[in-house]
Parts: sequence; C-alpha cells; structure tokens
Amino acid sequence: MKIKATIVSENCVFHLPGAVAEHGLSIFMETERGNYLLDTGQGKAIVNNALVLGIDLRTIQGIIMSHHHFDHTGGLGPVLDLKGAVDVYAHPDFFKESYSTRGNAVRYIGVPYPRPLLEAKGATFKFSDEFRSIAPELWLTGEVPRRTDYELGDENLVVKSGEGYVKDDIRDDQSVVIETQKGLFVILGCCHSGIINTLSHIVEKMGQRHIHAVIGGTHLGPVSDEQREKSIAALKAFDIERLGVSHCTGLKTASRLAGEFGDRFFFCNVGTVVEA
Ligand SMILES: [Fe+2]
Ligand SMILES: [Fe+2]
Repeated sequence: MKIKATIVSENCVFHLPGAVAEHGLSIFMETERGNYLLDTGQGKAIVNNALVLGIDLRTIQGIIMSHHHFDHTGGLGPVLDLKGAVDVYAHPDFFKESYSTRGNAVRYIGVPYPRPLLEAKGATFKFSDEFRSIAPELWLTGEVPRRTDYELGDENLVVKSGEGYVKDDIRDDQSVVIETQKGLFVILGCCHSGIINTLSHIVEKMGQRHIHAVIGGTHLGPVSDEQREKSIAALKAFDIERLGVSHCTGLKTASRLAGEFGDRFFFCNVGTVVEA
C-alpha cells in the first residue's frame, strides 16, 4: 500500500515557521488503511507542530509506541485529549519504571503518566511482544532478538534491581514495517534493539530483502566508535534505497552515513515528508 510519513516531533526544525523542536520523536503515518501515529514526542511539540503541518490528529485510528521512554510517550496526554478513544499498541513492559544515570543524577525516564489516567483519557492498550500485523500490510516488529555481538545498548539507561540499578535491556523497543509497491518501508523509534538486529529481524520475518526506506531514530549516536563503524558496515550490506535519520542518530553518525550512503541519505526533521 501507499504510505506518507510526516515527522511531527523531532530534535531539529529548519525553515518551518511556527514549528518547534524538542528531544523526541513522533511520526504521522497516512496509509490506505488509515492514519496512525508512531510515538508522540515529549509532548511540548506535537499539537503545535500538527497544526503548523495541517495534520488533524483526531483522524488517527491507532497510536503505536516504539518503547516506553518519555521522549516518545510524553505526548500521549495531549494526543488523547484531542482524539479520545483510540487503540494504543505497545509491548507488555511499556509501564516499567526506568531511569537514566547520565551525569550525576538518577532521572526517571519512563512513561510520564499513570496507566489509569491514559485509559481515562481514552487509551485502550493492545500489548504484545510478537511480530504482528495491526492492519493489512502494516506490521510491528514486537521484541527484536539480539543477535549481533556489538549492539550493546546503553549502560546508563537502567532499571531498579534490589538496592541498586542494572542496565535496562529495553526489550519493549519495536519498529514499524509497511509493505509498499516499492519495497519495505521501515520506521524506527529509538531502535534501542540495534538497527542491524532490527533490520535482520524484519527481513527474516517479511521474507523480503528490498527495503525502500528506513527512517527514524537509529540510536547510533550514543555508541562507541567501534560499534558505530561495525553497524555502518553491516548496514551497507542491506538492500536499502533511502535512509532518513532522526533523533538519536547524532550529527557525527549522520555525517558518516551521509558519506557512506550518498544520495540515498537524508535528514528526517520536523516537517520532513517521506512517501512510497
Ligand atoms: Fe529511547
Ligand atoms: Fe528517544
């Protein structure tokens, strides 16, 4: 089917009067099977930017949560206030309490709303950790098997364990796959599972190699140089026609990817539209 994806919340905005940037991600998906929202940003940008972009958030028929972090879930409140009753697709770990230990402070970084409040605003949670179709030709990866030995996750993203903290493996991280005439269209949230693990899982599950587009957060920003280079080398082995990076990719990795992917590379910031 056809897809039109518009970035509504992202870390950067260029030449779009009235729009604002925030550390976060939200992508509005218009498909022949209806409109969906992947993530909601931190919540400061989504309603404003949707108005600027001419997007009516009341038309969504489902909200897909890539994972539980506040920079993807903070906009659930304002979106539900506009939309009312709607299905929200997420992993069963969605409401876990997790923290960042970056810097010297321990900071809560999970969903910034209690579940009953979101349900009172209209959310019906559809939890699954499986690779699943939520509409014809629209798939969610569910939990992504960790296969590479170099996509290691973040030591400073943690969950409580006894008296202390242990690394959060962020099993709830998932991505979106749309089948189009041009090939697979992959939308990443933060990709904490690792972009190579994620794309390998998608190619295997879909039984198709050709990926027309990969857009969204690659999580190749906050990684070691060794991991970045191994991931970029492995990424080049996939059959990817267009690569549009956002959010947790960072300028250093983005510039590396621009060099490697040439004309196939682009930025996905607030207002970018990608169609297939
Ligand atoms: Fe995240
Ligand atoms: Fe994120």
